[in-house]
Amino acid sequence: MTITIVYGSESGATKSVATRIAKKMGGRTLDIREATARDFEESSFLILGAPTYGAGDLPSDWEDNFDALKSANIEGKTVALFGLGDQETYPDSFLDAMGLLYDQVIAQGATVIGFTETDGFTYTSSMAEQDGQFVGLAIDEDTQSDQTSKRITAWVERLA
Ligand SMILES: Cc1cc2nc3c(=O)[nH]c(=O)nc-3n(C[C@H](O)[C@H](O)[C@H](O)COP(=O)(O)O)c2cc1C
Repeated sequence: MTITIVYGSESGATKSVATRIAKKMGGRTLDIREATARDFEESSFLILGAPTYGAGDLPSDWEDNFDALKSANIEGKTVALFGLGDQETYPDSFLDAMGLLYDQVIAQGATVIGFTETDGFTYTSSMAEQDGQFVGLAIDEDTQSDQTSKRITAWVERLA
C-alpha cells in the first residue's frame, strides 16, 4: 500500500504533524505546493492535512493548488484527514479547513475514514464536525500541544 500524506503549512505545525504521522505509518509526506493530480491518484491511501486560516479558510498553499486535488480521479479511494486549529482564539471556525477538505473529497467520490471524538475540545462551531464527531484527526498545537502525541498515536492505531 502506498500512503501519501499531503499537507499545507504556513508556520510549520501541520508539516510537523504530517511528518509524525508518516513516521508511524511508513508513508511519504508531500507539500501541497508540489502536488500534482497524479500524486493523489497513484497513492492507494491518501492522508490530507490542513491548518485553518482567515475566518475558517484553507491556508493559501492549499487554495493556490486546490486544482491538483480537484482534477484528480480519486473516486472510490480511501482518504483520512487531519486538521490543525486554535480552539481558544478561533472557537467559531475551529478546524474549518478540515471540513472543507472533507466536502471536497466526498464530492469526488472518495471514502473518508478516521473520524474522531470531539471530547476534550471546547469550541462553538466547526465545519469539521459531522454528527457529533470530527471528520478526521483534530490537533490544536496552540492550546493543547501536550495532547498531540497521544492523539496522533490513537488515530494511527485506529487507521491501521
Ligand atoms: C491569521 C490566523 C488565522 C487563523 N484562523 C483560524 C481559524 O479560523 N480556525 C482555527 O481553528 N484556527 C485558526 N488559526 C490557527 C492555526 O490554524 C494554527 O495556529 C495552526 O496550528 C497553524 O498551522 P501551521 O503552522 O501548519 O500553519 C489561525 C491562525 C492565524 C495566524
